[in-house]
Amino acid sequence: MPPITCIDDLKRLHRRRTPRMFYDYCESGSWTEQTFRENTSDFQDIRLRQRVAVNMENRSLASRMIDQPVAMPVALAPVGLTGMQRADGEIKAARAAEAFGVPFTLSTMSVCSIEDVAERTRKPFWFQLYTMRDEDFLRRLIQRAKDAKCSALVITLDLQILGQRHKDLKNGLSTPPKLTPAVIADLMTKWRWGIEMLQTPRRQFGNIVGHVQGISDTSSLGKWTVEQFDPRLDWTKIAKIKEMWGGPVILKGILDPEDAVMAAKVGADAIVVSNHGGRQQDGAISSIRALDPILQAVGDRIEVHFDGGIRSGQDVLKAVAMGARGTYIGRAFVHGLGANGEDGVRSALEVIRNELDIAMALTGKRDIAAVDRDCILVPEGFSGRWQA
Ligand code: FNR
Repeated sequence: MPPITCIDDLKRLHRRRTPRMFYDYCESGSWTEQTFRENTSDFQDIRLRQRVAVNMENRSLASRMIDQPVAMPVALAPVGLTGMQRADGEIKAARAAEAFGVPFTLSTMSVCSIEDVAERTRKPFWFQLYTMRDEDFLRRLIQRAKDAKCSALVITLDLQILGQRHKDLKNGLSTPPKLTPAVIADLMTKWRWGIEMLQTPRRQFGNIVGHVQGISDTSSLGKWTVEQFDPRLDWTKIAKIKEMWGGPVILKGILDPEDAVMAAKVGADAIVVSNHGGRQQDGAISSIRALDPILQAVGDRIEVHFDGGIRSGQDVLKAVAMGARGTYIGRAFVHGLGANGEDGVRSALEVIRNELDIAMALTGKRDIAAVDRDCILVPEGFSGRWQA
């Protein structure tokens, strides 16, 4: 087998080895998928400078996100159903992140539970929270994350209601998958996935099943979201949750400078400029275009993180050069997991680290802390073209 040299290699293997329902769940955006596509394509409009005859020896990518040390400014984003891409997927991804020295964020909608991941890792991970109508469940969930010693709460703000992804409806996405003739035919070509999955007890939403009562169908992400997510979420409730948690809070899903100002007022430790990987508001601007106006609005008051469309170390470099303190990868690590489990997540991180390291050096910088706007060329109007 030829060596893995880029995220696309992992993506190809992910597609080949994972049931279609789950590969499609990962590799899709809402409605027309415009925002999903532009999250990646807009990165290409930014160019890196090439500097020469500067010392490129002794380079460092080490940085800090919310004052925690990171081997490079790249965290694993919260991804629901990661444990369906590969058996025990959240545990595998968390272990790979831990060994690498970057944060892992566990989704509320994970297959492995908070306790499962805590038991099988040594360093604290971050927990991503979806706000629920059921206050009692919400309180218990936060307490469970505290008990597991999670070192940050990432509150996702851009999914109070669910954007539609056509493929998930057509594929009948559920966990565990319902064994229709089409699903069985697909699984027959993904036998390794099936064997591993039969060997683990973790095949449902681990943070939910057994912890709440009265749900009509625990296997359906869509149904659970409609029934349980809180559509009335507002800034007062966010402040209340922050108080309940009492530790570092990261607000995820900010795409508009006005919301960024509100997030800073609530006193969050960081925000993530994000459009949920193009899975929510289709037709919204790409994350990378949204980054600069948000930095202008709140960059001096709050730590600004970024996600959406990162498929290489060059993309990380561009976001950091623009001013993001840290970045997150979603699909890039899921491709690694689906391709080769824990080793695959490590490969994804290695690919990105090597690309980031070399691209940084070629801009004439030796330390990620020194990477700034000087490293990139941004076309005029890149962020302002659509502003009022
Ligand atoms: C996500 N994302 C997400 N975000 C979140 O806060 N909670 C979640 O449960 C999920 N679930 C989820 C599933 C899948 C399959 C994907 C691809 C994404 C969004 C995720 O955290 C992140 O914002 C995006 O993935 C970033 O975009 P890229 O890196 O995938 O382009």
